[in-house]
Amino acid sequence: MGSLHISSTVSVLLLSLISVKVKTLEQPSHYSGDLPSACHLTCETSMNGTATFDFCKSYSELKIGGRCCFNVTALGALVLGIDLQRCGLSEEIFSSAIANMSNLLYISLEGNKMKNLQSSDFHQNANIDYLSLPPHFSCPGSNGTWLMESSDANSTICQFEQNACEVHNVTCPSNSHCVHSGVDMMECLCNDGFHGYKCLEQGNFPVTSFLIGITVPTVALCIFLYVTQRRHVIQHKVK
Ligand SMILES: *[C@@H]1O[C@H](CO)[C@@H](O)[C@H](O)[C@H]1NC(C)=O
Ligand SMILES: *[C@@H]1O[C@H](CO)[C@@H](O)[C@H](O)[C@H]1NC(C)=O
Ligand SMILES: *[C@@H]1O[C@H](CO)[C@@H](O)[C@H](O)[C@H]1NC(C)=O
Ligand SMILES: *[C@@H]1O[C@H](CO)[C@@H](O)[C@H](O)[C@H]1NC(C)=O
Ligand SMILES: *[C@@H]1O[C@H](CO)[C@@H](O)[C@H](O)[C@H]1NC(C)=O
Ligand SMILES: *[C@@H]1O[C@H](CO)[C@@H](O)[C@H](O)[C@H]1NC(C)=O
Repeated sequence: MGSLHISSTVSVLLLSLISVKVKTLEQPSHYSGDLPSACHLTCETSMNGTATFDFCKSYSELKIGGRCCFNVTALGALVLGIDLQRCGLSEEIFSSAIANMSNLLYISLEGNKMKNLQSSDFHQNANIDYLSLPPHFSCPGSNGTWLMESSDANSTICQFEQNACEVHNVTCPSNSHCVHSGVDMMECLCNDGFHGYKCLEQGNFPVTSFLIGITVPTVALCIFLYVTQRRHVIQHKVK
């Protein structure tokens, strides 16, 4: 009976793990409820009058929360802008702070103790319209990553991120296509109907059979243990 109990617990755990995994895959870039912690960083100056602030004020559906500008959608708060001027940030802290914000249009970073920022520090930000950096910084990426670049004594401003597939004229292998996935970054994704190594396998990824493949053996194991344990109990009684 002990093993029956343990195996059912294991299968329930497995099934709940699978459903949690499926749930997180469905909503990768939305926040339900609270704003991410980066919006609550403590900074020396207020956001009033900054480019992110002005952008936020120009749309009635956008709101300011802490250092962020966000849109309340059905799925939660979607952060579209973040003003982190004079927040004492290093490259590493900035990069991990924005790790899950893939929809940023406005980013301001003047007055931080950074020396250099690279395109990899921006993760999956593929739609940046306005990025302001400390003076003497160069815009991250390569020639052509930004439509406009400007600089003065107070900042470097990079505007309108361009599609890396087009900037680098990328040709993906057969059965795949290029997708712009971040500042000066792209990846080749399999076309519909192809998957696997180098997109060589045809047919949609077998999600259903994969789930059944895990569930059926678990249920079968439970039944097997139930039957064997029961027989053991009966034999015990007979003795
Ligand atoms: C910022 O601006 C808002 C209105 O746009 C105003 O209510 C608030 O007092 C200002 N805050 C500071 C610190 O200037
Ligand atoms: C805010 O979210 C709504 C609903 O998703 C969308 O229709 C709207 O265009 C968004 N506004 C901005 C400025 O992105
Ligand atoms: C980003 O999301 C992942 C998985 O959803 C989570 O583990 C991580 O803590 C998040 N990071 C931040 C900075 O919110
Ligand atoms: C960037 O590209 C432009 C035009 O495509 C060219 O004139 C310029 O020399 C390039 N700059 C560098 C640093 O490669
Ligand atoms: C730089 O900032 C200072 C102080 O805010 C301001 O007085 C000055 O006009 C700015 N310079 C430029 C070129 O925008
Ligand atoms: C892009 O690549 C294709 C094939 O590799 C080539 O034919 C085309 O001339 C290239 N275009 C530019 C603008 O470099």
